Amino acid sequence: MTASARPQTLWLGRWGFVLAATGSSVGLGNIWKFPYMTGEYGGGAFVLVYLLCIALIGVPIMMAEIAVGRRGRANPVEAVRRVARESGCRGLWSGLGWMSMICGFMILSFYVVVAGWSISYLWKALSGGLQAESVDGMAAIFAANNANPWNLGFWSTLVTIVTMLIVGKGVQAGIERSVRWMMPGLVVMLALMIGYAVVSADFSAGVHFLFDFNVGELTGEAVLAAMGHAFFTLSLAAGAIIAYGAYLPANQSIVRTTLTVAICDTLVALMAGLAIFPVIFANGMDPASGPGLIFMSLPLAFQAMPFGGVMEVVFFLMLTVAALTSSISMIEATVAWLNQSHGLTRRRAAWGVGIVLWVISTLAMLSFNVGAEWKLAGKHFFDWLDFLTSRLMMPLGGLGMALLTGFFLRRRAIREELAMPSWLFGLWQFAVRYVSPIAIVVVFLDALGWLGTGFDWRWLAAILVVGLAVETGLRKRASRADEAVG
Ligand code: PFF
Repeated sequence: MTASARPQTLWLGRWGFVLAATGSSVGLGNIWKFPYMTGEYGGGAFVLVYLLCIALIGVPIMMAEIAVGRRGRANPVEAVRRVARESGCRGLWSGLGWMSMICGFMILSFYVVVAGWSISYLWKALSGGLQAESVDGMAAIFAANNANPWNLGFWSTLVTIVTMLIVGKGVQAGIERSVRWMMPGLVVMLALMIGYAVVSADFSAGVHFLFDFNVGELTGEAVLAAMGHAFFTLSLAAGAIIAYGAYLPANQSIVRTTLTVAICDTLVALMAGLAIFPVIFANGMDPASGPGLIFMSLPLAFQAMPFGGVMEVVFFLMLTVAALTSSISMIEATVAWLNQSHGLTRRRAAWGVGIVLWVISTLAMLSFNVGAEWKLAGKHFFDWLDFLTSRLMMPLGGLGMALLTGFFLRRRAIREELAMPSWLFGLWQFAVRYVSPIAIVVVFLDALGWLGTGFDWRWLAAILVVGLAVETGLRKRASRADEAVG
């Protein structure tokens, strides 16, 4: 690895990485997806599993991704290849980088459609188009917005263009500057909306729905959904965090930055839940209304609030910006890869990727109108993109990253990057070696119905024994290799 092959770009400010990574994590996943999934999977139990997944799987894997990005100092494909080679592992591991880069691209293909909803609602809010007497009236506005492919296509195309403009401009001027003001604004808006929910909506019903944990009601499918969403909301296994980690200055603490990002992300999701569910219950709306949930419920609340018109505009503006700061992170990996590994300028790379993205996202957009009947196994294209990424690619990518950093990379290399006290390093290593892989495998098997009904501990024991045997073998090999190097 030559020094000249490394990108020189680093985040400018002390907070550059934290801001950008928080901008990536906090997005439609927190405000659009988390509430509607919680509604669909029945509330508190889903929330509990989601929180556990964040703490036990998401946080350790985020640390691993940042460490790999920073050590590799390149786009995910190249970064994973470099760190694997440095530890004497096969170049085959770069497949992990490939999968994450493709996953980010696939997410963005449906994400721009939802971001398009958000910006079209901003326009409606500005032009007084969000007035209805009831939930049904709001549902009709949402349906009409989707029914016209030209309308929806216009908004998602706009999002695609803006995303590519920002990414094309580069890391500091484009990404770092645009996330600086938006995160505090979003939190203030959500706080005001929670204030409204406390005073005028059914706040206690919302709180009970979110925090009454009836774990017995959860299906294997719901647990997989919660785990997939933990990856989604933290932007893991989609290239974003590795790509951003590549620009993290060497003297910044990975532990501290990870914890800051994860805490902000979780708080925003819970705040969104506390703002939205009270309104839903106060208006007799079904929490399981699906992806349109926030677009049908929140405008009703704004309508009833003092200064609701202004609040509505500010909210959809914030939501759009939150979506954009996530969108740019999803495509940074691909643009950086074209730039670093294929010599394209960032601007060219951004426009090239943008065109391909536009074609695929247009297909996703058509799922809501002319292509509503184009289904495979009951799902249309938009749902497939979501399903394949959140339920399959992200957990698998997380598993790969946990195994790579937990077992295959030289301990010395990963310790150097993580730079944490040894007790904490031990905890991290336990998490990526055992907790994450076992949890991911068990959740997969359970969702596939292979564990029968309920949880079968014999599977867990079997996986643990096999894991320990493999690890003992690997550790012997690694220490032999370390001795050889030393
Ligand atoms: N974390 C973002 C959200 O919650 O909206 C979505 C996301 C961003 C997923 C970046 C993946 C990614 F690479």
